[in-house]
Amino acid sequence: MDRLIVEGGHRLDGSVPTAGAKNAVLPVLAASLLTEETLRVSNCPRLSDVETMRRVLGDLGCSSEWEEAGTIVLRARDISAGRAGWEHVRKMRGSVCVLGPLLARTGRAEVSLPGGCVFGVRPIDAHLRGFEALGARVRIEHGFVIAEAPPGGLVGSELFLGTAFGSSVLGTANVMMAACLAKGTTVIHGAACEPEVVDLGACLMAMGVPIEGLGSPRVTIEGQESLAGTDWTVIPDRIEAGTYVIAGAMTGGRVRVTGCRPDHLSVLLERLRDAQVPIEVGEDWIETQPADPRTEAPRSTDVTTHPFPGFPTDLQAQWMSLMTMADGISIITERIYPDRYMHLPELARLGAHVRREGSAAVVRGTARLSGAPVTASDLRASAALVLAGLVAEGETDIHRVYHIDRGYERIEERLGPIGAVIRRVRD
Ligand code: EPU
Repeated sequence: MDRLIVEGGHRLDGSVPTAGAKNAVLPVLAASLLTEETLRVSNCPRLSDVETMRRVLGDLGCSSEWEEAGTIVLRARDISAGRAGWEHVRKMRGSVCVLGPLLARTGRAEVSLPGGCVFGVRPIDAHLRGFEALGARVRIEHGFVIAEAPPGGLVGSELFLGTAFGSSVLGTANVMMAACLAKGTTVIHGAACEPEVVDLGACLMAMGVPIEGLGSPRVTIEGQESLAGTDWTVIPDRIEAGTYVIAGAMTGGRVRVTGCRPDHLSVLLERLRDAQVPIEVGEDWIETQPADPRTEAPRSTDVTTHPFPGFPTDLQAQWMSLMTMADGISIITERIYPDRYMHLPELARLGAHVRREGSAAVVRGTARLSGAPVTASDLRASAALVLAGLVAEGETDIHRVYHIDRGYERIEERLGPIGAVIRRVRD
């Protein structure tokens, strides 16, 4: 198992490009199941989650090949098996979004329930309610979701997809895909407004489905008899971009994150301005300006996570790392996943003053962090530890980094050229 050893104290300086969005590419790849024709997806990041999705699709009879320059070509001419098993699905919750297209295309889908998640229960009841509203019969048997369409196929309807924690990103993606091959019109209320859902919707439109209201909580989908193939380019990864912007802010360097969508990160940018972190923003780049974090510490700034366009839960851990250097106390409140705080004890091992108060965390900006062995527990928690390691005194030895490879393309190779000293070692 790989470890990352981060040597602290190096100011980052230079330009780092943004890869394609993990959370956009996974449902777009799953959309290949909706058509017999070829789907060519560009700007695909090289991530282990993308490989897992290719395996899940491969088991279902969908071929997929990498072409050069980040393009995957997929073809689901005949879907041989309607069953996605535990082996791959357990590795990645995103694989649950094969349910909707599989059900719509073949009339039956059998998909293993995704594995338990380190940051709490992550139910899929909203997805299943959505399929039922389209006429499917859904049951859970031996750890599998089994969904069956009525004899004449799915039927469009008006449905509500909200949950106690707001809209569901993958739930919206799943039901939107199922509705593409349903008879008639589907209206989703409480739809997720995340850019990744908008990207999937735009791809489905390019495959021939009239869709209205993308990016709003009311999305209307006109079901079709069949869908065409298309060429699609996925959006840049706002969470990866945000992580690198915070890396620049923490090290006090001039870091330009290129090829990103600042409009997808407006709350992060606003909070950075509140924290008096000097940044400049262009059409497709964000640049942190040089500052000495010891004499010009960021001002402590509270954040609360919310569905888009609120502060993303996927940047909460990284924000906590930044706030460990701030000049006072900040309160971070998690409204999406109240237990998403596994990074907290690990940051404390590095000397951060952090404690939990229910679904909030209190961070007292501290003196210097100092490197120590820490364990990565999930993808974004791992990113937060890399950020903390960049400014900690000495070496931070991060174990179980396979988590970070799920969502960041070789982070050490991305940040190395701009001055980060990060070694990958194999145990
Ligand atoms: N929820 C329910 N019932 C459902 C679905 C969700 O109660 O049927 C709850 C969840 O427990 C959570 C909230 O609703 O409290 C939102 O969950 P959502 O369904 O939106 O999450 P997701 O679609 O499973 C995606 C991303 C996550 C990201 C969340 C929230 C992918 C592959 N995953 O998950 O990304 O945190 O949306 O924005 O798109 C990550 O990239 O590190 C990651 C975890």
